Amino acid sequence: MKNLGPWWIRLPLLFFIIFGLTEFFIDSGDKPAFLDQPIVALFLGFIILLLVGIELILASIENVMFQTLSEEAKERYLASKEQGFEWAWGKRMYKKLLGSKPIEAEGEIILDHNYDGIRELDNKLPPWWVYMFYATIIFGVVYLVRFHIFNDYDQDTEYLTEMTLAEAEIEEYKKNAKDLVDVNTVELLTDASDIAAGKAVFETNCVACHMADGGGGIGPNLTDQNWILGGDIKSVFNTISEGGRDGKGMIAWKQSLKPVEMAQVASYVLNFQGTTPANPKAPEGDIIVNPHMDVEGAPAVDSAMIEVEVDTLEFIKTIDEEGTVIE
Ligand code: HEC
Repeated sequence: MKNLGPWWIRLPLLFFIIFGLTEFFIDSGDKPAFLDQPIVALFLGFIILLLVGIELILASIENVMFQTLSEEAKERYLASKEQGFEWAWGKRMYKKLLGSKPIEAEGEIILDHNYDGIRELDNKLPPWWVYMFYATIIFGVVYLVRFHIFNDYDQDTEYLTEMTLAEAEIEEYKKNAKDLVDVNTVELLTDASDIAAGKAVFETNCVACHMADGGGGIGPNLTDQNWILGGDIKSVFNTISEGGRDGKGMIAWKQSLKPVEMAQVASYVLNFQGTTPANPKAPEGDIIVNPHMDVEGAPAVDSAMIEVEVDTLEFIKTIDEEGTVIE
């Protein structure tokens, strides 16, 4: 039989070729195919079983054929198997790294003493171990010089570098993932470029009913604090995406605008807050202070919340000092 290399090279090689083919031909997005589609994992498991089965069958066929040979032919066959180049080299290397004496030569290194019949060989340290030991010494010297003498970098800098890298990656991801935004994840956009894009969308699609300055016409005034359908970014996004109440004239824009465009125009609409339009339409709906900013455009501070907390603290203190509740 022609020699195709040892089974422990043949089997993994075949398996990885098949594995590579599945990854190449099955479209599974970013994930490897065998994670994305369990059936592929099942298939690969089956392939392993199959390959092992084939190897076992081949081995037994070889064995049966070997037994039918004459003694002389058996010897020739074994000799031909020994010959492979990689084998000779690999075996020599292995023996060298092991550094042990063959059993016949053990007499040379046996020590004199005899512990109740147990005798000791004076083996040299195995070369593979010694070389590894030298390697750690070289590593240690390089490490010492680099980090303790030249102070190349320390853990803090390493941490910071990795964090900066990660942040850059997140930014990059967010830039590409803008269209993934929906009513649950939308946030007020503040980048000038986003606001400008929102303005463009507004001027193309919305001015007919809301006026260029947001003062309102067919649609309600967008500059006041009164909102029919809610004035936080999520509500505004939702109104634009799903439309207003039936029959009022505000259509759902999700068919004609991309998610990112709706987020941009929603952020632009919220920028109207507190401006004075030329012909303001009378307020409609409830007053809802925009939680994203107060009228001047500064971030809103929830002062009611702070007062409540202070009151609670004082209340607890009075009880503690006097032991009883006074007020
Ligand atoms: C055909 C006229 C028309 C167009 C065009 C229009 N709207 Fe409206 N819009 C309305 C009307 C009418 C309402 C009130 C809906 C209601 O009462 O349910 C409204 C409501 C709104 C509201 C909610 C206001 C509130 O008080 O809750 C927002 C925000 C809004 N529009 C933004 C937009 C944006 C952004 C565009 C462009 C993409 C747009 N509209 C295009 C007519 C229009």
